Amino acid sequence: MSKLLEVKDICKYYVHKDGWMPGKRVVALEPLSFSLNRGETLAIMGETGSGKSTIAKLIAGAERPSGGDIFLNGQAMSSMSDQQRCRHVRMIFQDSLRSLNPQITVGKQLCEPLIFNSQLNHEEQKQRVHEVLRKVGLLPDHFHFYPHMLASGQQQRVCIARAIVLEPQIVVADEAFVALDPSIRAQIINLILDLQEDMGISFIFVSHSAEIVKHVSDKILIMHRGKMIEFGTTKALINHPEEQLTKTLLHSEHKYKVPLHSTTKE
Ligand SMILES: Nc1ncnc2c1ncn2[C@@H]1O[C@H](COP(=O)(O)OP(=O)(O)OP(=O)(O)O)[C@@H](O)[C@H]1O
Ligand SMILES: [Mg+2]
Repeated sequence: MSKLLEVKDICKYYVHKDGWMPGKRVVALEPLSFSLNRGETLAIMGETGSGKSTIAKLIAGAERPSGGDIFLNGQAMSSMSDQQRCRHVRMIFQDSLRSLNPQITVGKQLCEPLIFNSQLNHEEQKQRVHEVLRKVGLLPDHFHFYPHMLASGQQQRVCIARAIVLEPQIVVADEAFVALDPSIRAQIINLILDLQEDMGISFIFVSHSAEIVKHVSDKILIMHRGKMIEFGTTKALINHPEEQLTKTLLHSEHKYKVPLHSTTKE
C-alpha cells in the first residue's frame, strides 16, 4: 500500500491575547508523527481537551501547525495553495444543519466547491452533483431542497456529499455523527464504508465510541493531554494495548448499540 499522508513532528501552541493571563502559551499539541496509507481509515480517540480536534483541523488545513509539516503524497501541505489543499482534504463538521447555508438550496451548495475548484462548466457541475446525491443515497429532487426541509440524517448525507464532490483523497470528520439518532448513525457510518470502498477515500475521524472505532478504523491514534501516547493498527491496539488509557477507551462499555455492517476491521 502506498503512503498517502505523513505527519512529521507537528505541534500547535496558542498564545492568549487577552483574558486573565495575556501572553500565556497554551500547548494544544506536542510534536507528534504518524502516517496513513491510501484508502485507510484512522480513528483519533482521547479524553476531552487532549488535542483530537487540533489534529483534525491541522490535517484539514483549517489551522496551521506551529511547527513540523504534513505531507500529502510526498508534497508538503505548507507549500500547497488553499485551493490545492481543499481539493485533496475535506472536512465534515459535527453540527450538519449549522454547517449548511439555510438560504441556499442543496444543489447550489454542492455546486459551490466545483465552481471554485474545478474546470467543469455549469451543466457538468449539475451532472456531478446529481451523481454525488445518488452516491450518498439522496434523490435527484433533493437538489432543489433547502437544508431545513431535510431530516437530520439527510442533512448529514448532504455534508458528506459536499465533502466528496471534489473527489478528495482524505475526508476528516470531527465527531460528525454524535448528534445523530443511533439507527441513522449506523446508516451514515455504513455509507462512509461504502464510499471508501467505491472511491478509495481515506477517512480520519474523531470518535468516543469504541464500537464505531473498532468497526470502521484500520489504525487508531490515542491522545492524552496534547501527546500522542499510542498509535498502531486497530488489531494491535485491541489485542495488545500498551497504555492503560488505550485499554480503557477501547474496552469501555458500548455507549451506542448500532446495527453496523457485519464486516469489522478488528
Ligand atoms: N483557539 C484556541 N485558543 C487557545 N487554546 C485552544 C484553542 N483551541 C484549542 N485550545 C486548547 O487546546 C487543547 C486541545 O483542544 P482540542 O479542541 O483539540 O481538544 P479535543 O481533544 O478535541 O477535546 P474535545 O473532546 O472536548 O472536543 C485544549 O486545552 C484547548 O483548550
Ligand atoms: Mg474536539
